[in-house]
Amino acid sequence: MPEIEPRPDLHDEAETWSVDQLRSTQLQRLQEGVRRAYEGVGHYRRRLDERGVHPDDIRSLEDVRLLPFTTKADLRENYPFGMFAVPRERCVRVHASSGTTGRPTVVGYTQGDIDTWAGLVARSLRAAGTRPGDLVHVAYGYGLFTGGLGAHYGAERLGCTVVPMSGGQTEKQLQLIEDFGPRVIMVTPSYFLALVDAMTERGTDPASTSLQVGVFGAEPWTEAMRAEIEQRCGMHATDIFGLSEMMGPGVAQECVETKDGLTLWEDHFYPEIVDPLTDEPVPDGEEGELVLTAMTREAMPVLRYRTRDLTRLLPGTARPGMRRLAKITGRSDDLMIVRGVNVFPTQIEELVLGLPGLTPHFQCVLSRPGRMDQLTINVEGEAGLGADARDRLAGELARQVKDRIGTSAQVVVLAEGGVERSVGKARRIVDERDQ
Ligand code: DLL
Repeated sequence: MPEIEPRPDLHDEAETWSVDQLRSTQLQRLQEGVRRAYEGVGHYRRRLDERGVHPDDIRSLEDVRLLPFTTKADLRENYPFGMFAVPRERCVRVHASSGTTGRPTVVGYTQGDIDTWAGLVARSLRAAGTRPGDLVHVAYGYGLFTGGLGAHYGAERLGCTVVPMSGGQTEKQLQLIEDFGPRVIMVTPSYFLALVDAMTERGTDPASTSLQVGVFGAEPWTEAMRAEIEQRCGMHATDIFGLSEMMGPGVAQECVETKDGLTLWEDHFYPEIVDPLTDEPVPDGEEGELVLTAMTREAMPVLRYRTRDLTRLLPGTARPGMRRLAKITGRSDDLMIVRGVNVFPTQIEELVLGLPGLTPHFQCVLSRPGRMDQLTINVEGEAGLGADARDRLAGELARQVKDRIGTSAQVVVLAEGGVERSVGKARRIVDERDQ
């Protein structure tokens, strides 16, 4: 594994704060953020007035609980610009996330927001082991999705040379990686695997490339996947988290020296974990839904956003003042309930990666052939496996799913190329139940 020299001298001041320093800045920023939301956004003024809460009532960080939650539905109802706290003319950019149904959700940024964002992605890249002067290959999609441009501005801010490749055009990606020699790649883990497979097919050993650091995010991935990537490619695989509603990538980032979950940049985002059924906050260390408040956003302050992401808050390690998010198990939307048993695609991923002969490419198909839901796992076998070997692996994976997760699943091991590839976020669940 490549050595990475620690550079604490490059850290932002906030990364060195004690918990007390951080809490006092958070309180001040929370108060300012709530005031901006109240004064600038009709939706928040109405919601706060209904609850009889005024920005002056926020006297401690616990008072965050007085605030209303914000959901994706709230953003949709105020489509396109109703959640902006500044006149549209003051926004220098918008992004949008498509979502599965209906209108997209729109996010706006002032110049100040773009600067903050670039700073936080630069901080994230540094935590991942990127250094000024590095060549950074960005294969997150450019466009309305926040991945490409968010990564791009952050890498420039850090003083790197950016290759704005975007997603897709696999052959071109490989050529540029070979010819330019990037040290760092930013891409979804599932598309990175597709790149690695394509390299292998061309006869290039993925461990022989110039890549030393991967900054992988935008979708859930597991420790098993990290081990697979690090072993196959001889590079560090770190996790980056973010969502367009808060900003984009760079809300939290794993530090390369510990790789123990993602340090949440708490100087800008105030976290809570709530029980998704009762909406009550749970103590640090317990799993639940991540709720975030964007304290410093100018164009679009967002209070207590229900991310639907399931995780835990853990104490700081590499950055002692700031809490970490445990690697994200999945979104509550991705929870499959199969005959009463809760299953996340990440649980399947761990089992698939544990079985030699299977590749990490898989998809879960939910159907309802009779009255009962059925889960079918389509997974690709390694090249050159015969039909018998594939059947044996299918039986073995089905047995492990039954033993370890507790549900029956039908497993089909397909030949190479049998599972759909994406160039961005992988589609892990195909729901055919309502068709
Ligand atoms: O995916 C922003 C991003 C771009 C993050 C590039 C990291 C890298 P959205 O399209 O709005 O924004 O999707 C946000 O993706 O609520 C999570 O469900 C999921 N997600 C993002 N990062 C991770 C991660 C971008 N590291 C949604 N692990 C979030 C697990 C992630 N899930």
